[in-house]
Amino acid sequence: RASTNSPAYHAQPMSHAHNPKQVAGYAAADLIQDRTTVGLGTGSTVWFTLVRLADRIAQEGLRVRGVPTSEDTHAKATELGIPLATLDEVEAIDLTIDGADEIDGEFRMIKGGGGALLREKFVASISRREAIVVGPDKVVERLGTTFKLPVEVVPFARAVVARAVKGLGAEPLLRMAPDGAVFRTDNGNEILDC
Ligand code: A5P
Repeated sequence: RASTNSPAYHAQPMSHAHNPKQVAGYAAADLIQDRTTVGLGTGSTVWFTLVRLADRIAQEGLRVRGVPTSEDTHAKATELGIPLATLDEVEAIDLTIDGADEIDGEFRMIKGGGGALLREKFVASISRREAIVVGPDKVVERLGTTFKLPVEVVPFARAVVARAVKGLGAEPLLRMAPDGAVFRTDNGNEILDC
């Protein structure tokens, strides 16, 4: 594949086949096997996975149950007719498919740009495999190049955590919502972008 900086990349029309998020999202959905439990990540790339998974359920009769990592994914998967389960009902997950904001050559990642960074950790912790869906723009030499590191924090402890983060040499910035209020995660917590 041509890199996003190359003339070849820009010469191609942005058809569906050349939307890297769609290519990655669809390809990951094809990893899902029949009679498995699948962790469903969050974001615009995973959206394509959800669409393709719903399609496979309808076309192939694939029998899966999905464990969503956010309220957003829960709503989208429900609308697409993907059967869902909660962590209370699941002891292990066969494969989780999730997005990322940055990934380096050693598969270290920054995640949480969309604010869904806590539940995904628990889903990942019981997953046998994790597939990360990203376009070439997410690949970096060094983490923190294009994206701040989101840290989810219990509001009660915000000042304590902010001081600890500063002690590590980072500058924490409280994430705000578009309406000017403090951003809240699905868990009622805040995010420090560091
Ligand atoms: C979860 O909060 C995030 O890490 C997402 O996985 C990430 O932001 C997804 O990015 P895209 O929307 O570009 O797929």
